[in-house]
Amino acid sequence: CRFLRGLYLMRVVCLISGKGTNLQALIDWQANGLLGDARIVAVISNTAAALGLERAGNAGIPTKILSQRDFSNRCAFDHALIQFIDVYEPNLVVLAGFMRILTSGFVTHYERRLINIHPSLLPKYKGLNTHKRALGAGDKNAGATVHWVTPELDAGDIIRQVKVPISREDTEETLKAKVLNAEHSLYPSVIRDLSLGLIKC
Ligand code: GRF
Repeated sequence: CRFLRGLYLMRVVCLISGKGTNLQALIDWQANGLLGDARIVAVISNTAAALGLERAGNAGIPTKILSQRDFSNRCAFDHALIQFIDVYEPNLVVLAGFMRILTSGFVTHYERRLINIHPSLLPKYKGLNTHKRALGAGDKNAGATVHWVTPELDAGDIIRQVKVPISREDTEETLKAKVLNAEHSLYPSVIRDLSLGLIKC
């Protein structure tokens, strides 16, 4: 996120695919003046049905839809996505429930400007079904991780994590809800701290 702190805002583009509850948390923090020097300048979704698009629209944030269905291969889609994103000249691209594996060309283009939130205490449980796996392993804690995105899935440097205790009564559903709730403070706090230079890019 190379930008001159104090002189310019940190321009943030969010990529979503679904409900967008993390996006909503970012919007709320921004509305309350809690997002430091970060400003969400656009929200891009790969599906028209994403509820997050409505959340962005309600907050007056420009939205765009780009569907992979309109492209013959992954590289072509990612290339078009870069063109869409770069119109907004972002200092930071935030994956907020963007359900796509990105090509290394895409990831390299945004090296150290691309972050993701993952619902586990990485390096444990990369990929899907994180809560089921944590419960199955008898873990005492679950959690969420914000990390830099690198070509290898869920393997980039960890920026910050939050732990969520697992109780005996927890099911996959209750744990998912608890972790998601924790994500809603973790992600905005990381973006705020990046914008204020409290986390190194
Ligand atoms: C969250 O579980 C996040 O950890 C994962 O995708 C989900 C996004 O949820 N990367 P939402 O769309 O922000 O509600």
